[in-house]
Amino acid sequence: MIILACDHAGYELKEQIKAFFHKENITTIDVGTYSTERVDYPDFAKAGNLKVLENPNNIGIYICGTGIGMSIMANRNPKIRAALCTTTKFAELARKHNDANVLVLAGRFTSKTKAISIIKEFLTTKFEGGRHLKRVRKLSRA
Ligand code: RB5
Repeated sequence: MIILACDHAGYELKEQIKAFFHKENITTIDVGTYSTERVDYPDFAKAGNLKVLENPNNIGIYICGTGIGMSIMANRNPKIRAALCTTTKFAELARKHNDANVLVLAGRFTSKTKAISIIKEFLTTKFEGGRHLKRVRKLSRA
């Protein structure tokens, strides 16, 4: 399942992404926020994390203005590997090398078209394992 979370600065892009998934008949869970009214991104990263961790196959897509606040908060949970991606190459490597389970986008700096291509890359790329596995395991022992 895909879990969407955003703050007010990510709301517009989150709605566009949600519409994209809807068109593709892919179900999403939207933990908010649900308007452009100012909110605090840590609350929504936390709500997203709780849902993502309900199933190991879940993937989160979190959006705030820069993506930085969402990344910092999401990664406070040792089971979350959140990657702020601004290019498809970053999305590819975040999956291949880091086994990222949360994609973070910068709502104020990422167009809808760019976001969709980053999302497609993230969702279709598999973790390579091998030498990366031992490093990823160390991430939850920080
Ligand atoms: C909200 O103005 C902004 O600070 C937030 O969306 C995000 O960019 C924080 O990292």
